[in-house]
This record gives sequence, structure tokens and C-alpha cells, in this order.
Amino acid sequence: MAETKSIRLTVNGQMHELDVGSKPGQIDPAHTLVYTLRETLGLTGTKAACGQGACGACTVIMDGRAVNSCKILTIECDGKSITTIEGLKDPKTGKLDPLQQAFIEHFAFQCGFCTPGIIMTTKALLAENPHPTEEEIKEALSGNFCRCVSHYHVLKAVLSVAERGE
Ligand code: FES
Ligand code: FES
Repeated sequence: MAETKSIRLTVNGQMHELDVGSKPGQIDPAHTLVYTLRETLGLTGTKAACGQGACGACTVIMDGRAVNSCKILTIECDGKSITTIEGLKDPKTGKLDPLQQAFIEHFAFQCGFCTPGIIMTTKALLAENPHPTEEEIKEALSGNFCRCVSHYHVLKAVLSVAERGE
């Protein structure tokens, strides 16, 4: 009998061992990471939109880097550590991440569809550069689109966290 191949993904600190195959709950070699996060693991905070790496809605953090999860096959993620928007809150207290709180305080979204991707991109930026300039924030967010034109409020929210160094 053929040996079942499996992959290991650590998502928001929790390790998942997932079989590769075409049955329900398995990872088909054609599945993208955003598909696996949403449909297999039930983490629907990460949004699927263009599917072509053009909008940033599907951004997650993989091994410290913001990546478009629609452009990555899940089978390529064996051994990777992934953080999604669901993983930002404090697991013990349930308190929101300072960045999430700042988005609420600065009304940095309207429909909110782009927001998880924008927050994950800025979270990765702040981890690397805790005090970015306005230009650096704009540059980091150049791949994240917001159809509701919330960009000015997003900048204010990110700058408020950058100024506090949280
Ligand atoms: S859905 Fe991935 S970049 Fe648009
Ligand atoms: S808040 Fe609606 S797309 Fe950005």
C-alpha cells in the first residue's frame, strides 16, 4: 500500500499534520494556502479575492514575512510557521493586538474586507521596523488594495502604533 504523505503546518502556534490527497480534509497538491486556511482549517479571517497576488487580501505572515497566501501551494509550506489574523489576539486574555485596537480607534476600515491583509502586512513591517516612517508604511502597503479608500485612516492607525513602539 502506498504510504500517505503528510505535511506539517504550524498555524497560530498550533501544529497541524495534514495528509496529502484528494479526500475531504486532505491537502490536494493544487490547494493554495489561502484555500487550506479557510476551507480545511476554518480560519476564514484571511480573505480570498483576486487569487493572483494583486490585492493583498489574502496576506498572512509566514516565518516572519508577509506573503500572499493565494500564490503559495500548501504542499510547499511543509514545516512552515504561519500567523493569520486570528492569531494576533492574546491567546490567554483574548485582548486584541495593539494594531487591531488602533484600527478600531482610527476607524481604519469601512467594509473591512481588505483589513486582515492590511493588518498582517503592517504587523510584519512593525516586527522588522518598529518605527517606520509614513513613506515606509506606504511602501510596505503598496500591494494591499482597499476599495473603500480607507488608506488615510490606515496610515494614522499604523503611525499611532509605530509612535508608541508597540
Ligand atoms: S487574493 Fe491573494 S493577492 Fe488577492
Ligand atoms: S475597507 Fe473595504 S476594501 Fe478596504
